[in-house]
Amino acid sequence: PIVPVILSGGSGTRLWPMSRPELPKQLLALTAAETMLQLTAQRTVAGEQFAAPIVVANARHADVVETQLAEVGASAQALILEPAGRNTAPAIALAAIAAGAGAAPLLVMPSDHVILDVAAFHAAIARALPLVRDGWLVTFGIAPDAPETGYGYIKVGAELAEGVHRVDRFVEKPPREAAEAMLASGDHAWNGGIFLFRADKYLAALQSFAPTMLAAVEAAMTRAVRDAARIWPDAEAFAASPADSIDYAVMEKAERVAVVPVSMGWSDLGSWDALHAISDCDAAGNACRGDVVAIETTNCMVRADTGKRIALVGVEDLIVVASGDDILILPRGRSQDVKKIIEAMKG
Ligand code: GDD
Ligand code: MG
Repeated sequence: PIVPVILSGGSGTRLWPMSRPELPKQLLALTAAETMLQLTAQRTVAGEQFAAPIVVANARHADVVETQLAEVGASAQALILEPAGRNTAPAIALAAIAAGAGAAPLLVMPSDHVILDVAAFHAAIARALPLVRDGWLVTFGIAPDAPETGYGYIKVGAELAEGVHRVDRFVEKPPREAAEAMLASGDHAWNGGIFLFRADKYLAALQSFAPTMLAAVEAAMTRAVRDAARIWPDAEAFAASPADSIDYAVMEKAERVAVVPVSMGWSDLGSWDALHAISDCDAAGNACRGDVVAIETTNCMVRADTGKRIALVGVEDLIVVASGDDILILPRGRSQDVKKIIEAMKG
């Protein structure tokens, strides 16, 4: 079976003030009653097709991750607890080693994405699998609808098998002009950040393109402390790994890379605007959660923690979020600027 690898190490700062270091985006219920991590686990229920997942998370979240998985009847075959994040390339390497470093296909999934059409996702996985077994590194391509600079772009090449294409070029997080050109070209897809490849092939790619990283991760796993499913990689060895994403470290450089274009209601949910875009809105276009009183208010996104009330009158196109001791207010369309607030608070 395919081994799901769930990456849960991000801090999700752009959804501040709900997302915080102690409870980042993937551990929050943003779109449904379930948290983003729980929704991710539910996409690959263990059975014939999928093994129990390997979850890679920050060590501080060990208990909450285990509890949230149990709440949806899932349990990790390995819960790898990073002493500190070194970005996705080393995190996936930890999982590849924990999976046995053999030919098992790994389905690497971010823990913080929305996928509305799970059947389409599963069909795309099935299309990719023969090439994956043959050694290809596969990613899933999303039809782009804006010149986003926060995504990876894939130039979709010749068809290798039905619905599976060669990646002619992989460009991670391009500058605005390049993103606009790739959007206009009509033959580019966004990288969905979900990957399918054999554990051994991923590790071989690291050996070629990031040998220092691979050596550090191997040492960290050799000296890891284990207790049932929990694995603590050795902190000193892991700290010696360069911090880099799979996109820069491997996908931009590797040879046999394929993409499966898929339409599955995917959203990165990278900002309050993105969340508003996929929310069910009332007749006035408002998406409200919690105790909210909205009078003559239109097209607003309003979220209040339990115990707080937000009351609005006569406003439009605002994002208002009250969480903990903090209140965020900004116009719709500006939610990427939450990172400016984070910077300002750092002083
Ligand atoms: N365990 C672990 N450790 N997980 C991590 C770490 C880490 O150090 N860093 C990030 N993650 C997790 C995040 O929680 C997220 O679920 C996933 O890995 C991807 O990391 P992001 O930091 O969110 O990446 P990104 O959004 O900037 O870019 C990636 O995703 C885009 C689509 O959303 C790239 O793959 C882009 O090419 C892609 O377009
Ligand atoms: Mg992301």
